[in-house]
Amino acid sequence: MVALTDAVPSGRFDRDSTRRKCSRIHGWLTDPERDLLYNLAHNTLGGVIVEIGSWQGKSTIALASGSKHAGRGRVYAVDPFCKSDAMKMIDGIYDVWAITQVDDTYDKFMANVAEADLWNDIVPIVAVSAEAVALYEQRHNYPIRLLFIDGCHEGSYVQKDWDLWSPRVPSGGVIAFHDAIGETYPGVGKVAEHALNSADWEVSRCDSILYGTRR
Ligand SMILES: C[S@@+](CC[C@H](N)C(=O)[O-])C[C@H]1O[C@@H](n2cnc3c(N)ncnc32)[C@H](O)[C@@H]1O
Repeated sequence: MVALTDAVPSGRFDRDSTRRKCSRIHGWLTDPERDLLYNLAHNTLGGVIVEIGSWQGKSTIALASGSKHAGRGRVYAVDPFCKSDAMKMIDGIYDVWAITQVDDTYDKFMANVAEADLWNDIVPIVAVSAEAVALYEQRHNYPIRLLFIDGCHEGSYVQKDWDLWSPRVPSGGVIAFHDAIGETYPGVGKVAEHALNSADWEVSRCDSILYGTRR
């Protein structure tokens, strides 16, 4: 007789299958960055994961797969997922996602989440970061063990992401900034370096990601 079990069959959410799933999705993560997100999601303890800026779900799926493989919590994916013109107006800047041909990333994001078999593991919050924080507080409000910041790359927005979300990350939790290293987004680097430059944080890096673990 075959025993029925809720256990996740091995292999569906491990690193190799995550690499295959992510390779089919458009995005800017390097392979080492994808593996880092998977590992951080797998290994950090004590709360949920929040991602600011999800696009079509490449990083979201790396995070959710690592978390699921370890039997840990969900990923809350914050993004307005809106049309490029609206995006331009919301952030007042003309940037890489404003010039792509994808009109509305929500459908693409959800299709990628479904294909990765992560329906129950990812909760989209369809709002800009500053509005999402109130929704999160009202409906969820769990401590955040891993915060991945990859939304609007303009310095004042990254600072706002930090100010609003970082107090929810307890000791042992991790905050990671994408595009914080290198010349392309100086605003991100400036905010990230300043924010993590204290004895409270143990800082590491991987390609363009600068991340800190709260002591
Ligand atoms: C670089 S893409 C994210 C890429 C994604 N993390 C990945 O690795 O596949 C930036 C995303 O941030 C979103 N975004 C821009 N401004 C935002 C804001 N204020 N709050 C939340 N998301 C924002 C955009 O809609 C876009 O999808």
